[in-house]
Amino acid sequence: MVKKIGTFDKFRETLDKLNGDGVLLVAGNPPNVMTIGWGTLGIIWNKEILTLYVRPTRYTFGLLENSKDFSVCVMPDTFTKELAFCGSISGADTDKIRKCGFKLEKGITISTPYISGSLYHYECRIVHKHRLDPQTLEPSVITKFYPKKDFHMAYYGEIIGVFEERNE
Ligand SMILES: Cc1cc2nc3c(=O)[nH]c(=O)nc-3n(C[C@H](O)[C@H](O)[C@H](O)COP(=O)(O)O)c2cc1C
Repeated sequence: MVKKIGTFDKFRETLDKLNGDGVLLVAGNPPNVMTIGWGTLGIIWNKEILTLYVRPTRYTFGLLENSKDFSVCVMPDTFTKELAFCGSISGADTDKIRKCGFKLEKGITISTPYISGSLYHYECRIVHKHRLDPQTLEPSVITKFYPKKDFHMAYYGEIIGVFEERNE
């Protein structure tokens, strides 16, 4: 059973997961799953927004470029292996969903599905994107994170809903 919860009810938990083993981004049709560790939750344009940062070298980047929406699934602590796998193998030549045994469920408000068994997931509609700009980025950040100049694309997703899975 899936229950809609407050947009920022899981704010702290989501940041902790991002900062830990990561969370799972689902995007594309057919969908692909990729681990993300960078993300921001906040308010812009009076909207509730989840922003992702995806390097152009990721297979998921091409999928997002052709997508209107995405889902972000926060998994239980037992998914450490799957998070490491989806964060190191590319969906370009591997069906990560099949390899991990993920069951996808139809999105509740968007066309992108979500992963069954997630603690809760965000459903987001892309409202803006931009590439991080080396002209205005602190040089020490460029040296540390972008030796290959593969600056992230930031995708701003309006959070349409956050849904918790409950076993009842
Ligand atoms: C914990 C963790 C967090 C990650 N966070 C990001 C991220 O925020 N942005 C990004 O572009 N890649 C991130 N990655 C790397 C991608 O998940 C990895 O390159 C993945 O294989 C890309 O999958 P794809 O080619 O199927 O899109 C992360 C990896 C791990 C293990």
